[in-house]
Amino acid sequence: MSKIEPYITSIPDFPEPGVIFRDITTAIGSADGLQLSVDEMAALLEGEPFDVVAGLESRGFLFGMPIAYKLHKPFIPIRKEGKLPRETVGATYSLEYGTATIEVHKDDIKPGMRVVLIDDLIATGGTLEAAAHLLEQLGAKVVKIVCLLELKGLHGRDRLKDYPLATVVSYD
Ligand code: PRP
Ligand code: ADE
Repeated sequence: MSKIEPYITSIPDFPEPGVIFRDITTAIGSADGLQLSVDEMAALLEGEPFDVVAGLESRGFLFGMPIAYKLHKPFIPIRKEGKLPRETVGATYSLEYGTATIEVHKDDIKPGMRVVLIDDLIATGGTLEAAAHLLEQLGAKVVKIVCLLELKGLHGRDRLKDYPLATVVSYD
């Protein structure tokens, strides 16, 4: 068991009946939990050459930023639609109910850039897949995806099979 696991709280029936919500706020709300989660995620990037960390709004920012800081890399935000002020490109993807759009500043990504994508959690993998496609559309290479948590039952890993993927804690 990873040392971070006791810091994650599992909330049954949130946000709707039948869902077990894996809450990372109890991890980052502890000085030890915060340090452990960032250190364990950063360790998954050891030996990986890359240029930049991209994080997904909003929970991906909580981990992407400190990992970028720790590894002395720049951080690029991938945000929900309508938040970024300069020219953007976007990708629309399906959620359990309806669709969502994420965007990145076009000039943040240069062709050939090696990007590490960070989020808190993989559920269906739809969010990370859309982000990876968006970055590729701009000519970047997604060299690794790192998340703290993985919900194995939702098979996000299968959806992201084209990318090296590493997670710290897996839930069945
Ligand atoms: C959550 C989570 C991931 C995504 C995972 O974000 O932080 O980004 O869902 O789900 P998926 O693998 O099925 O795509 P959410 O859209 O709830 O936004 P938040 O980070 O702002 O809470
Ligand atoms: N995002 C999608 N599914 C989730 C879950 N079960 N717990 C926390 N965040 C999620």
